[in-house]
Amino acid sequence: MSSTTRTAAALDSLPLAPGALPVAGHLLPLLRDPLSFMTAPAGYGELVRIRLGPRTMVVICSPDLALRALRDDRTFDKIGGIFDQTRSVLGDGLSNCPHHLHRRQRRLLQPTFHRFRMPGYAQTMTGLIDETTRTWQDGQVLDVLPETRALGSRVLAACMFPEAALMSTQMTRLTDAFDAVLRGVLRKVLLPAWATNLPLLANRRFQRAVDHLRQTAQTAVEHRRSNDRDHGDLLSAMLAARDEETPGGAQTALTETELIDNVVTFVIAGTDTSAISLAWALYLLAQHPDVADHLRTEVDTVLGGRPARYDDLPRLPFTGDVINEALRCYPPAWITTRTTAVDTHLGGHQLPQGTVLGFCVPLLQRHPGQFPDHPERFDPDRRSAQPAPPRPATPCSPSAAAPANASATSSPAASSPSPWPPSPAAGDWSSCPTTPRPYPPDQAC
Ligand code: HEM
Repeated sequence: MSSTTRTAAALDSLPLAPGALPVAGHLLPLLRDPLSFMTAPAGYGELVRIRLGPRTMVVICSPDLALRALRDDRTFDKIGGIFDQTRSVLGDGLSNCPHHLHRRQRRLLQPTFHRFRMPGYAQTMTGLIDETTRTWQDGQVLDVLPETRALGSRVLAACMFPEAALMSTQMTRLTDAFDAVLRGVLRKVLLPAWATNLPLLANRRFQRAVDHLRQTAQTAVEHRRSNDRDHGDLLSAMLAARDEETPGGAQTALTETELIDNVVTFVIAGTDTSAISLAWALYLLAQHPDVADHLRTEVDTVLGGRPARYDDLPRLPFTGDVINEALRCYPPAWITTRTTAVDTHLGGHQLPQGTVLGFCVPLLQRHPGQFPDHPERFDPDRRSAQPAPPRPATPCSPSAAAPANASATSSPAASSPSPWPPSPAAGDWSSCPTTPRPYPPDQAC
């Protein structure tokens, strides 16, 4: 009996999600509409089996169990599942590496996000948000997601490696490359390895995009090494990092491969997630004018017409609630996996070594146990009305769900559109949706 078959047999006592076909299992509905399929098992139990061809995945439907598993990364490790498949893109970067590599990288990369660096990043962001939103015209129909994606890649580039060479032509190609990579990753995760290695156009395109992304990261690292001063950006912080816990006190730095893996990781992890969150937030504000008015009042009162700074954030609590509630309702990084490194148990069930667990973030974040009052409803006020739930059991993948089009429409009384961070300098407009379907299937995976 193969280890896949043994693991599958040991999980037979768990309920099986309905609709499995004899050989393909649940692959077809999963490929057709992954988000709908993955949010359905909530009604069947705390742990539910799904079948991906010969492979089995256990979907965790309980936020408590998800939290327990995510906190124990020695037992529920980033091996197998999504992580083996994304290794060709992200290498062993921080978001992708297994437990035994994680702590050292985490120590080395933590200073990249040190509090003293935040005001600089925030200033870069508000400047670029201003530049983008100034071009938005009253009455113009905009496809919001490409706008926020372009903004997201410019922000990331400016915070990461702002050299002119990378900002212009390279960035356009880079954006195209990681768009292609993002689209290819879920297919790679769901399909067996042999299918994603066939010399098909889609597979070749994916590999070309991966090569381009990694090559660009390498060029950025080499370029910066030749000019070694601290530019106040993410890449300088990565190059300067030294591990003080290296045995023997040698204070090792990130290796060349770790640097490239983490540049790619930050680009992939930081761009689409932010762009999609912002697009959803704009879409939800367009659907909830009362929330938009409240937000606008807070921003105008606190900022009085000037651009936001990092130290303004604590005085913008409702703005924070809007962003957090949008992230709860429509989390951009909506699925991840862990694999059991040893035989273990969860929720009273035995899980043999090698069991792949799936975490579907929308399913967990709309759990009625956590959000009893209409969990599906966008309601930023619920955050001040009820105690904060435990830190979200949100897993991550570079895949996404996002709204499609929204349009800027006339709003004579409006003073600020307030994307995140709030930026009052842009023109007079508010957004309204032009589509009733906020989940275009191609953005859902
Ligand atoms: C709204 C925006 C974002 C969302 C929703 C988001 C979501 C997530 C989630 C859910 C994880 C946990 C993944 C897992 O353990 O399976 C994660 C990890 C990570 N994210 Fe983000 N992210 C966002 C922005 C960013 C940005 C801007 C960057 C970098 C510039 C970034 C870099 C990372 C890294 C490096 C990790 C791994 C951390 C670790 O394991 O120690 N993310 N993200």
